[in-house]
Amino acid sequence: MLLTKDILDEKEKILRKVSKPVEFPLSDEDRKHIDDMVTYLRDSQIDEIAAKYSLRPGMGMSAVQIGILKRYITIVHESSEGHFDTYVVINPKIVSESKEKIYVEDGEGCLSVNRETIGIVPRSARVTVEGFDVDGNPISIRAREELAIVFQHEIDHLNGILFVDRIDPKNPFKYKDTYRAI
Ligand code: NI
Repeated sequence: MLLTKDILDEKEKILRKVSKPVEFPLSDEDRKHIDDMVTYLRDSQIDEIAAKYSLRPGMGMSAVQIGILKRYITIVHESSEGHFDTYVVINPKIVSESKEKIYVEDGEGCLSVNRETIGIVPRSARVTVEGFDVDGNPISIRAREELAIVFQHEIDHLNGILFVDRIDPKNPFKYKDTYRAI
């Protein structure tokens, strides 16, 4: 079982590296990592389980956050009360995005950033992501609002980018009135 302490902190240099494309078939090891990541994300959003294992809640995790420099991401999104949608995308790519930009009003969070941060990150309001499922079948996902932000945040991780990098420290709320808060 993956625990919060297993997730790398931003001070780890590997988080700044670009992850490598994955080749199919997926190894048993990678399948296991994906299961562990999904389980963590789901459990972390269920209060009783999160409390029992002291899991810091999160919606998304990329492989590099557990030290694996490979291009895959997992997202568990509570689309309605108690209902979780799971997304696993191997070699994900954003193939189109809206011109409209949005941001998380309270600021983004990240399981690898364990400090208070201020500022907002403009993100596309809608994205289409293409990639592959665990069996190597091509998949295409259209995401909007919060889910679209999570996809952009996780794909950033695969390119060594953390959300804090996208905030101008001199003017952390620069785009507050330009874009739409969610
Ligand atoms: Ni993150």
